[in-house]
Amino acid sequence: MLLFGLLFVAVFGGAVAESPRERTSLNAGWRFSRFTSNPDSLSYAALKQWILPSSNDFITREKYQRPSGTPPGSDVEYVQSSFDDSEWDPVNLPHDWAIKGPFGAPGVSGSEGKLPYNGVGWYRKTIALESEDVKSGKQLYLDIDGAMSYASVWLNGILVGGWPYGYNSFRLDLTPYAKSGKNFLAIRLENAPNSSRWYPGAGLYRNVWLIKSNAIHIAQYGTKVTTPSVSAEQATVDLNVIVENNSNSSKKVDLITEIYELDAATGKAVGSTKARFDSLSISVAGGTKQVLNSTVALTNPKLWGPPPTQTPNQYVAISTLSTGANGTVDQYETRFGVRTIGYDGTKGLLVNGEPVYVQGVCNHHDLGSLGAAFNVRAAERQLEMLLEMGTNALRTSHNMPAPELLDLADRYGIMVMGETFDTWKTQKVVNDYHLLWDEWHEADMRSYVRRERNHPSIIAWSIGNEMPDQSSAAGATIGKELQDIARQEDGTRQSTAGLNNAGPTTELAKVLEIIGLNYQGEGKGNSWTSTYPTWHNAFPNKMIWGSETASTVSSRGTYLFPVTPNKTAIVGGAGSEDNAKQYVSSYELYHPSWAASPDKVFEQQDNFPYVAGEFVWTGWDYIGEPTPYDTQSRSSYFGIIDLAGFKKDRFWLYQARWRPEVPVAHLLPHWTWPNRTGQVTPVHVFTSGDEAELFINGKSAGRKKTEKSSYRLRWDNVTYTPGEIIVVAYKNGEKWAEDARKTAGSAAKLNVTADRTTISNDGYDLSFITIAVQDEDGEVVPEASNSISFSVSGPGEIVSTDNGDPTDMVAFPSTTRKAFSGLALAIVRSKPGSSGSIKVSASSNGLTGGEVTVQAG
Ligand code: GAL
Repeated sequence: MLLFGLLFVAVFGGAVAESPRERTSLNAGWRFSRFTSNPDSLSYAALKQWILPSSNDFITREKYQRPSGTPPGSDVEYVQSSFDDSEWDPVNLPHDWAIKGPFGAPGVSGSEGKLPYNGVGWYRKTIALESEDVKSGKQLYLDIDGAMSYASVWLNGILVGGWPYGYNSFRLDLTPYAKSGKNFLAIRLENAPNSSRWYPGAGLYRNVWLIKSNAIHIAQYGTKVTTPSVSAEQATVDLNVIVENNSNSSKKVDLITEIYELDAATGKAVGSTKARFDSLSISVAGGTKQVLNSTVALTNPKLWGPPPTQTPNQYVAISTLSTGANGTVDQYETRFGVRTIGYDGTKGLLVNGEPVYVQGVCNHHDLGSLGAAFNVRAAERQLEMLLEMGTNALRTSHNMPAPELLDLADRYGIMVMGETFDTWKTQKVVNDYHLLWDEWHEADMRSYVRRERNHPSIIAWSIGNEMPDQSSAAGATIGKELQDIARQEDGTRQSTAGLNNAGPTTELAKVLEIIGLNYQGEGKGNSWTSTYPTWHNAFPNKMIWGSETASTVSSRGTYLFPVTPNKTAIVGGAGSEDNAKQYVSSYELYHPSWAASPDKVFEQQDNFPYVAGEFVWTGWDYIGEPTPYDTQSRSSYFGIIDLAGFKKDRFWLYQARWRPEVPVAHLLPHWTWPNRTGQVTPVHVFTSGDEAELFINGKSAGRKKTEKSSYRLRWDNVTYTPGEIIVVAYKNGEKWAEDARKTAGSAAKLNVTADRTTISNDGYDLSFITIAVQDEDGEVVPEASNSISFSVSGPGEIVSTDNGDPTDMVAFPSTTRKAFSGLALAIVRSKPGSSGSIKVSASSNGLTGGEVTVQAG
């Protein structure tokens, strides 16, 4: 899956050239310990003067100077190689120290997921370096894709630097502290309590890399590729390369860059050179950086664009840096796409000139029971299901994602709103980002834009979400500063923010390039008064979108009665929730006071056709923020897909609207109600058809037509009798789709299936195993909650189990899990380097067990 420890190898002029640059994974073989109270005398305040210089590449004000003298921490035993850490946990990265639980961590609210993310964590590892790596003229960097949070790093007992914002990536220069032979790396992280509105995760939760290069090399995020003009015949490709010379003498370098097509599946250059920039030469003085610019014409470009109407083609620019004496000194790959983006006040978003309606979702960064620990396959699975639903856009709410998520978005053609902050200068929680604001916001914004600017999937920058400062004059100044940073680093995308309170007359509104409205566009709660028209009148040329919509809440497979007759209803009313169990009805009509049902959002979007689309809150459930049970439960109810990855009914409501070509007919509720015989049990159908007929035990309950903007048909007066309900949907008078629900018998057996039965043995790849509790005839028992035990044999392990129930307080690694609404999930991971059959078995008292075999190799 990931290419670890490989030299960069590229097709170059027909031959294969090896880059002197090496990028090695440092994920394996760490020792870790967490402390609930501070185990050392250290704090960010004490280390800050040594950490701030880590941001120097991303600030325009005066650079920070590293204080002279011995930096703090050298006397702490954990930074010393002699410390005996044999009692500490052996861990591999990405690692989220809190995800194993248990739930109910002292001092951690339901909003934060009840998991022990707080405290201090230390990670320790020995790395071996050759004398070649540390000789004069060589450079060593540590690249950390994300560390939660307040990271500080020691090499061989010396504090190197760090980065406090847990979502951002950062690089530290190890060169001055490295030596030949064994080197000792120690990393301290600290998460204050009350530092997040959701579950942030904890630890070294993304990839960590060691970069070896020559002292003269292409800088971190040192290329920028843009395509200022694009036609079917030709694209102009502009290239900008920053060459960094860390040696103490001036160097003359030559730069050649060639463009190849990128094979999305392998991530490699394929075929012959498609274009070649003129070779450039420059002298770079020791200790400085120089920028080289060039332009080339690419003929018959294959454009990048979102499916289904466009194709996400990609290119890679391979830049080779050489000096007369030493030949090739660096080679650097920049993946990019050829495309144009337009933002129109009336037509909405234009990709390559074509209006593309934004069918987006917001997602948090966690990956369910895997926690914040990034995993490419788990993220890919999230995107695959969203694509199946018709999603074409993603908002990385409310922070920077793992870099690999953007690679996946490029590959699948998913458009991304890249977001940086949930808080500016004014806090939402006590230990929020406001504490870092003054010293870090420029570096965090600038480094993120620089990191991601070549991804064709990024279509907009979001500089913040529902910032308490959005309506103040100070907020407008901040907004302008952040937007200017995005312009300086990128210049090709517009910026936006999620505004929940600001109106068209607020100063920030005048600044923002795209108007992003959270909930106010469709009208909050019971109100149908939309603010779209006033915004559009005030800024007719600015694009407007629903940067956050819906926030519908539901518990998968749970249906409660009576059902509201309205199109949208604030949760809390009759039939919306079961307070004893903390479940919300899955008729998909209920939401908190600021929010709306999907049905209402669709109608309002269609009422104002200049709106460019929406980002639904949320695509997937996430850990924390379990509204409306913020204190009791541990994960959200907002997802269209639950935490385990099982589709809630809403999935088909969105699919019906977003993929009108797919014959969707989806019936709810289930039809196994032993205690409801003779009672009114409304039947709803989500359909992409324009008409449907419902049959109850073979008898028609009538044929109904959908209305404009509606994908839901309701038969609200159906009386329950056991048996079968069938719906037949029609489109333009022709039969279009069908669905059925049968009354299930009692639970008899477990049906075990894998999303993939062949996985890589790289130690990262996953198979997601679904267990359905079925009756004798194979019908899923809809309210089954049988306790299921999992076991595994062969070269794999069960990483976690889940069922999508936000109230389940059994820790995620448990191999016993109750089914929720008939389903449970086990996540199986391959063991690195071991091939063979992984057998996953599931058993439950009184039921026939099941198993599935997954091949790892
Ligand atoms: C929004 C907020 C999101 C999430 C959501 C829940 O106001 O931006 O982060 O909290 O509410 O409905």
